[in-house]
Amino acid sequence: MNWDEEHSTIIAGLDLGTTKVCVVVAEQTAERPLRVIGMGQHPSEGIQRGAIVDAEKTVYAIGEAIRQAELRAGVEIDSVYAGISGEYIAGLNSTGMVAVGSEGGWIGAQDRARVLSAAGVVKVPFDCEVLHVLPQEFVVNGQRGILDPVGMYGVRLEASVHVVTSSVAAVRNICHSILRAGVDVRSVVLGPLASSYAVLSEDEQQMGVCLIDIGGGTTDVVVFVGKGLRHSGIIGLGGQNATNDIGVGLRTTRTEAEQVKCTVASNEAVAYIVGARMEEILALARKEVYSALPNVELGAGIVLTGGGAQTAGVVALAERVFGLPVRLGVPVGLVGGEELASPPYATALGLLLYGAEQQQEKNQKGAQVLVEEPFDSVLGRVKKWLQP
Ligand SMILES: Nc1ncnc2c1ncn2[C@@H]1O[C@H](COP(=O)(O)OP(=O)(O)OP(=O)(O)O)[C@@H](O)[C@H]1O
Ligand SMILES: [Mg+2]
Repeated sequence: MNWDEEHSTIIAGLDLGTTKVCVVVAEQTAERPLRVIGMGQHPSEGIQRGAIVDAEKTVYAIGEAIRQAELRAGVEIDSVYAGISGEYIAGLNSTGMVAVGSEGGWIGAQDRARVLSAAGVVKVPFDCEVLHVLPQEFVVNGQRGILDPVGMYGVRLEASVHVVTSSVAAVRNICHSILRAGVDVRSVVLGPLASSYAVLSEDEQQMGVCLIDIGGGTTDVVVFVGKGLRHSGIIGLGGQNATNDIGVGLRTTRTEAEQVKCTVASNEAVAYIVGARMEEILALARKEVYSALPNVELGAGIVLTGGGAQTAGVVALAERVFGLPVRLGVPVGLVGGEELASPPYATALGLLLYGAEQQQEKNQKGAQVLVEEPFDSVLGRVKKWLQP
C-alpha cells in the first residue's frame, strides 16, 4: 500500500483460484469510495483444488496477472491481499473470557483484543496455523448479542469466535510463490470470506445466509448468522469435475468439454451430465451446513457465487436441494471495473473490500496508540506452547 501526493491508497487483491489467478487493483481516497482501476488474470495451471502443485507455473501465472493489472492500472503493485481456499483449511467455533482491565470498568479496545486472543486459543494440529479469528458476538456481564463491546461498562467480557486454520505448508507455498512473483503479501484471506464482502448484504448476514462459492476445483461454503461467521467448510469438487464428466461422457477433449459446458447448456446430454454433478455438489454443501449447524435458520436463504454459479439452471436446482430461496451473488460495492461484476470475480473484488476495511481498522488503532503486543504475535506464541 502506498500513498501518493493526493493521499490515495492503492489496494490490490490476488485470488489464487484453481482455474485462474486474478489480480485486481483499486484506489481509495478519503473523499471517494473504493474505485477499481485495473485487473489482470492468467490461467492457473500449477494449482489443483486450491493447493499449489507446480510452483514454477504458479509463480509465472501470478507474475503475468500482476504485470497485466499494473499495466492497466498505471500503478505499481507492491503488496496484495491473497485469497486462498482448499481442503487444507478448517474452521471451528470457540469462546474466551477475560476480566475487564480498563480503568473504571469501561471496556476499551485493549479488552476487546485480549478477549479475542483468549477465544482464539484453540488446539491446532502441529502442521496448522490460525488464519482468522472472527468475532461472532460478545457477552458483557452475561448480556448476550453485543457486536462491539468497546465503550460499554462491565467486569466480565466474553467472546464467541470462528477460528479458521490452515496447513502451514500450504500457506507457506502460496506466500513464497507470491513473493517470488515480486510482491509482498499483506494478508492471507480465506477466499469465501473475501467473497462474502462483495456479494452479501448486512441484512442477509444478520438474518442467516449460506454463501456457496462454486469454483473450478473447490466449492466453498460459509454460513453467517447474526452478522457473525458460524461455519466455514471446503468441498473438493467444482466446475472442473463437471467438465471432466462431459469429457468422459461425450469422449471429447477437456477444452472442448469446457466450451460445450459453458455454451451449449441446452443440449440434453450435456445438461444431464452437468446437472447431476451440480446436484451432487449442492447436496454435499447442504450436508456440510446442517451437519455443522443442525438447527441453523437461514432466513435469507442461499447465495451462489463463483464461476460454477453461472451454470444454466443451477439456482433452481439449489432451491430444490435446500428447499430455501436462492439467488445469484454478483459482486457489488465498488466503483469502476464494471466488466468484473460477475460471480467468478467475487473473491478478487471482495479482497479489495476486505483490505479497505483492514486498512481503516489499522488507521483507527493507530490513533488509539495501542500498547499491547500485536494480536498475531500473541497467537503465534500461544500456538507454539500448545504444540505437542
Ligand atoms: N457459463 C458457465 N456455465 C457453467 N460453468 C461455468 C460457466 N462459467 C464458468 N463456469 C465454470 O466455473 C469454474 C471456474 O470458476 P471460478 O473462476 O470461480 O474458479 P476459481 O476461482 O479459479 O477456482 P477455485 O475457486 O475452485 O479455486 C470453471 O469450472 C468453469 O467451467
Ligand atoms: Mg475461486
